[in-house]
Amino acid sequence: MKRKTAIISDFKQHVSSQKVAFFKKYGMDFVLGERENIRIEDIENGTELINLHCNGGVFNLGHRNPQIIAALKEALDHFDIGNHHFISLERAKAAKMLSDLMPGDLTYTVFGVSGGEATDTAIKVARSFTQKQKIISVKGGYHGHTGFALATGDEKYRKPFGDELPGFEQCTFGDIGSLQSAIDANTAAVILETIPATLGMPVPSPEYMQNIRQLCDENQVLLILDEVQSGLGRTGKLWAFEHYDIVPDIVILGKGLSGGIYPISATVLRKPLESVFHPDPFIHISTFGGAEPGCIVLQKVLEISSSPDFLAHVNHMATIFKAETDKLIEKHGSFLVGLRQKGLMMGLELKDTDCGPLLTKTAYDNGLLIVYANNDKRVCQLLPPLITREDQVPEIMAKLDKALSKARKLRPLLKVRNLVTGLLKSADR
Ligand SMILES: Cc1ncc(COP(=O)(O)O)c(C=O)c1O
Repeated sequence: MKRKTAIISDFKQHVSSQKVAFFKKYGMDFVLGERENIRIEDIENGTELINLHCNGGVFNLGHRNPQIIAALKEALDHFDIGNHHFISLERAKAAKMLSDLMPGDLTYTVFGVSGGEATDTAIKVARSFTQKQKIISVKGGYHGHTGFALATGDEKYRKPFGDELPGFEQCTFGDIGSLQSAIDANTAAVILETIPATLGMPVPSPEYMQNIRQLCDENQVLLILDEVQSGLGRTGKLWAFEHYDIVPDIVILGKGLSGGIYPISATVLRKPLESVFHPDPFIHISTFGGAEPGCIVLQKVLEISSSPDFLAHVNHMATIFKAETDKLIEKHGSFLVGLRQKGLMMGLELKDTDCGPLLTKTAYDNGLLIVYANNDKRVCQLLPPLITREDQVPEIMAKLDKALSKARKLRPLLKVRNLVTGLLKSADR
């Protein structure tokens, strides 16, 4: 344990003292070591977890996917970051591939390094194109922690960091009336995740999504869909918006685009929107965005994720996860009450808001990495790697079954503890 103790000490002193304190408190001081396929291992103590969170889709293709590694190794024989000012072979190929795989005239791509950056770019383009200011997002949605992306998010993420940026408003997800009343003559764009992950995977109805598209059209407002988590085959179609028969004006991609190996993100624009860069094509720069090794990785990711066999596999696995989860709902109905699902984008719906953090911990203790949805703690996000095989499901479900049994046992104790904490707080007042 000496090596691990030293790592934790360095991390505590030089990266984050409070992350160390948090993970210690909950007995989860995992230090990432070997990783392969659907599994990650602690660097020292033998703890092994099946990754059912995948960092929100970064590991769609599993950990250290051999095809991605081979593509990157080959790239490194010929390429480096490249030059973000020059015309680039690999950037052109990657953007053309995205264009070929997108519907309609979503033909231009601006590359970045993160989902937050890609969101910021989308908002810049929307404001410049429409010459309007207001950006409407949904409460509980999440698009990143950078400038404009942060401004679209909930107050709790923004408040500690200073004054509000003007021109941002939130509406209620699933409520078309709430969006309708937020739209005014100064509205540039509506931005939302096709399925909001941090809000606990509420799956929108086709009618809702189509009404949003229609409202945007009627009011000359752009529709930005964030597919950072829901894109790249996660829902059983390459793009989640394909389930809804709509075409957005801007699509934001990140996470899985990296193949879990090389950071890259993309803001895909409808053709007319590229005109915002006509007066000055150098007005928006990202030194590392669209780095050439990243573009090569992205091409491999797209090639794998768009293949009909791959998507058929995702859909097949989705039916298996549904059938197996239904059995667990039957067995643990007092704790696990439902499954939110579109393909392998899933949320375990639990009894109350204490349950998400509790199940996250008992799942960890039973060898599964799942994480509760931060903006709806009644839900645990369930995002297995898309390459998960059928023969791996029994082990996953056996561990989940044990985690649910343990969580059910602990829940009454948690309630007592919360009651005591509550009483102590009121006594303090
Ligand atoms: C839907 C969605 N959009 C955007 C982001 C931001 O991505 P990044 O962390 O790469 O900036 C995230 C990150 O979790 C996300 O889940």
